[in-house]
Amino acid sequence: MQTKVTDPVSSSQSSTIQWQRFSVPYQYPVGFVRGAFDPDNPIFCQMVVRDEPEKRHRCLFVVDEGLASPDLDAKIDAYFAAHSDQLVMIDRPMVVPGGETVKNDLAHVERIQSAIHTHAVDRHSYVIAIGGGAVLDAVGLAAATCHRGVRHIRVPTTVLSQNDSGVGVKNAVNFKGIKNYVGTFAPPWAVLNDFDFLDQLPIRERIAGISEAVKVALIRDPAFYLWLERNADALATFRPEAEEYMVRRSAELHMHQIAHGGDPFEMGSARPLDFGHWSAHKLEAMTRHHVRHGEAVAIGIALDTRYSVLAGLLPEGDEERVIVLLESLGLRIWHPALESRDADGRLSILTGLEEFQEHLGGALTITLLTGLGQGHEVHEIDGKLVHQAMDWLKARSRSE
Ligand SMILES: NC(=O)c1ccc[n+]([C@@H]2O[C@H](COP(=O)([O-])OP(=O)(O)OC[C@H]3O[C@@H](n4cnc5c(N)ncnc54)[C@H](O)[C@@H]3O)[C@@H](O)[C@H]2O)c1
Ligand SMILES: [Zn+2]
Repeated sequence: MQTKVTDPVSSSQSSTIQWQRFSVPYQYPVGFVRGAFDPDNPIFCQMVVRDEPEKRHRCLFVVDEGLASPDLDAKIDAYFAAHSDQLVMIDRPMVVPGGETVKNDLAHVERIQSAIHTHAVDRHSYVIAIGGGAVLDAVGLAAATCHRGVRHIRVPTTVLSQNDSGVGVKNAVNFKGIKNYVGTFAPPWAVLNDFDFLDQLPIRERIAGISEAVKVALIRDPAFYLWLERNADALATFRPEAEEYMVRRSAELHMHQIAHGGDPFEMGSARPLDFGHWSAHKLEAMTRHHVRHGEAVAIGIALDTRYSVLAGLLPEGDEERVIVLLESLGLRIWHPALESRDADGRLSILTGLEEFQEHLGGALTITLLTGLGQGHEVHEIDGKLVHQAMDWLKARSRSE
């Protein structure tokens, strides 16, 4: 509906404002499977062909170097052979570097854009990314910017990308040293989480990603938090049923926030799921990504949980429970870089607060806890309490 509004300032007939309004409903399937490319597993094919089963759909694969192998190529080949009436692979899978390397140089995005161009991938063809969150981000950006958006399917292969980033609507790469500076909001065509990929993942990555599940449980879901406590040993030893449930429940909670949180494209000042992240982003940058995102998030969770106690929001003792959980999962709660200071003697980590606010614009909004499963937004952080929380964490980590 268009509403004609007369400009209240000018009485001239020619000065008017018309409000343009429309909304676009988004939907995409998120699959949880094993053996996504076993020829008799129909899910990938169904996700691609969905509305047009009668035609053959053109697909271009981009694969993370960390898991690319002749074996994976052969599996995808066999899958396409079995579904050749509906799927066409337009070239051999393209391999790109994994991790931040692919995000640190726009040349990689350009190479993917060139492949999309060379192979005439149009808005009814598909670019399929198989990889960790970094590769999904870079491929997502390339897909979103060619022809103003070609269909993009994500096959996340790390715990973190399956339980958090892969089901979301964002992509980005780093620019001039600034994390996620160049990117778009672009919901995918489909997401396919295949738990089998996790078996190849280095143990460090496999553990680090669990912290995103702890994060979302702490702010959204008390029952899931208790489940994590009860299943910490099973998770730390990668028992399949436990790992699958952790990934699935965490992904569902992230999906719920995007669909029902009221701000899927982050127009406001809050990032409600970014509990523990203001210091985590800073710590990652300060250590030049030697501390993995998930590892930094575990430390950020520990810090903000203790801060919540010091701020009088969370009962004393609850922070101890959270730390026991993180540690029994194999996550650390302290890193010496937390003590770095700027030239003026200020704790460097505190600039993370300003950077967190700058990224979004608007008022500072930080999520804290009022219970184990209950997030609470505040708009001010007391530097003195951050110092106290850090002293406590450092002492607590030494006592181990
Ligand atoms: N778009 C978003 O909403 C969003 C949200 C959170 C994080 N992210 C981004 O995700 C990135 C982190 O992603 P991540 O934690 O998934 O790790 P990652 O993509 O950095 O990958 C970590 C390493 O694991 C390798 N790897 C990936 N899958 C593998 C597998 N199955 N077997 C063996 N090796 C494998 C990669 O090659 C890489 O070396 C960051 O760049 C972060 O900014 C994006
Ligand atoms: Zn995160």
